[in-house]
Amino acid sequence: MEQTNTETSVANDKRPIVVIDKVVRSYKVKKQTIPAINGISLSINEGEFVVLNGSSGSGKSTLLQLIGGLDKPDSGNITIDGVDIKKLSDHKLSLFRGKTIGFVFQFFYLQPFLRLGRNIEVPGMFTRLKRKERKLRVKQLAEIVGLSDRLNHFPAELSGGQIQRAAIVRALLNQPKILLADEPTGNLDSTNSAAIIDLFEQIRQQFGTTIIVATHDPNIAARADRIITLKDGAII
Ligand SMILES: Nc1ncnc2c1ncn2[C@@H]1O[C@H](COP(=O)(O)OP(=O)(O)OP(=O)(O)O)[C@@H](O)[C@H]1O
Ligand SMILES: [Mg+2]
Repeated sequence: MEQTNTETSVANDKRPIVVIDKVVRSYKVKKQTIPAINGISLSINEGEFVVLNGSSGSGKSTLLQLIGGLDKPDSGNITIDGVDIKKLSDHKLSLFRGKTIGFVFQFFYLQPFLRLGRNIEVPGMFTRLKRKERKLRVKQLAEIVGLSDRLNHFPAELSGGQIQRAAIVRALLNQPKILLADEPTGNLDSTNSAAIIDLFEQIRQQFGTTIIVATHDPNIAARADRIITLKDGAII
C-alpha cells in the first residue's frame, strides 16, 4: 500500500536496525518486583541519532542494556540488525555484540593500568582483529579525537574530557553499526560536553553509525533526530 504520510515515508527510506517489540523487564529484589520496562515497542533506523530522556529511574539505562544484549527481557522481542538476539547462544551473542555494538557506559572507564593506545585496542582483541589492523584503527581513531600524541600515556595522565573521548572511540574500534552511550557528558563541563556532541555528529557522518544516547543533557537532545521520553518504563 502506498504511504501518504510524509513522516512515515521518510522513515521507510531507511532500514530499521533496532526493533523492540512489547518488551517487559522487571527486577526482583527480595520479595519485591520493581518494574523497569513496561511493554515498550520501538523501531530505530540505521544511521539515526536518538536520545532517550526521562527522569531518574524511568528506565533509560535498562533499555540501553536490553538493546545491547547485556540484559534479557522477561518477555517481548529485540531484533538487532535483523537478528532476534534471544535466539543466540551466550557465546554467539557476545560475538555478535562485540562486532555490532559499541558501548560507552557511565561507569565504564578505561583500564588504568593500560596505556591509552592499548585501551582503545582492547575491543579488537575480543573480536580477533589482526594486530596490524587494530593498530591502524587506533591511529585513525586517535586522530579523530586529537589524542594521537597521547597514545603512550596512562589514563591517569589525561583529563576527564580526553578520557571520555577515548572511551567513545574505543567503542568504535570494531566499526559497530550501533553506538550506545549512557550519560556520556554526565560529569563533563560545557566545553568538553560540546566536544563529545560534535564527536557523535562526526561519527555519524563519517561511519553512518546509529547512535542511541541516554541523557538528561538538553544540548545533546537539541542535536538528535528524535527524542524518546520515558516515564515509569514506558514511552510517553
Ligand atoms: N539491578 C537492579 N536491581 C533492581 N532494580 C533496578 C536495577 N537496575 C535498575 N533498577 C530499577 O529499575 C528502574 C529503572 O532504572 P534505570 O537505571 O533503567 O533508570 P534510568 O532512567 O537509567 O535512571 P537514571 O537517570 O537515574 O540513570 C528503577 O526503578 C531502578 O531502581
Ligand atoms: Mg541510567
